[in-house]
Amino acid sequence: NNGAAEFLPDRRDLGSPRSAAARCEGCDLYAAATQTVFGEGPEQARFMLVGEQPGDREDREGHPFVGPAGRVLDRGLEEAGIERDAVYLTNAVKHFSFIPRGKRRIHQRPTVAEIEACRPWLGAELALVRPKVVVVLGATAARSLLGREFRLTRHRGEPVPLGDALAVATIHPSAVLRAPDSDAAYAGFVSDLKAATRVSE
Ligand code: URA
Ligand code: SF4
Repeated sequence: NNGAAEFLPDRRDLGSPRSAAARCEGCDLYAAATQTVFGEGPEQARFMLVGEQPGDREDREGHPFVGPAGRVLDRGLEEAGIERDAVYLTNAVKHFSFIPRGKRRIHQRPTVAEIEACRPWLGAELALVRPKVVVVLGATAARSLLGREFRLTRHRGEPVPLGDALAVATIHPSAVLRAPDSDAAYAGFVSDLKAATRVSE
């Protein structure tokens, strides 16, 4: 596979990459996953939130952040005073990656090659939504948008230029759930989201 670029359409609205991405075979992940999970939200959104990739629930339902990580995200957004309809939600990689184990599907982090292969879709979403603030959720999104040199632990919560937007990186909501002290992890997550709202003012 040669990445998503050859599947990109030239029409200038979100419906068009969305339907083209449904047929993407830019890397091998399309083969075992149920469907492409494209981003969702208003084309005029001020905020674009970028996660890692769909999980089990998202893969079945076809929408981003509808599982446990999505609940953490929804709570965090509410607490930071970010309205859901000001937000375009998407992922760095648009297909679920997993290893089958019996009846379960164990989530696998996407590889760097898969992140790179899928980046054209994220690029198309950025170009069409033109958000003011991009909230980078976790290391995979950071790898895709901010490059391999960016250190999330050191620079989380700090605005960094990303094209015409400013990006603010934070931990992934799944990492909040997995953290040994998840209350502290959640507090840090909310504080980074609040930093993102200040950037947008
Ligand atoms: N985790 C993500 O990164 N994205 C989703 O859409 C769901 C879980
Ligand atoms: Fe295409 Fe991205 Fe899916 Fe790979 S993960 S097949 S590049 S949409």
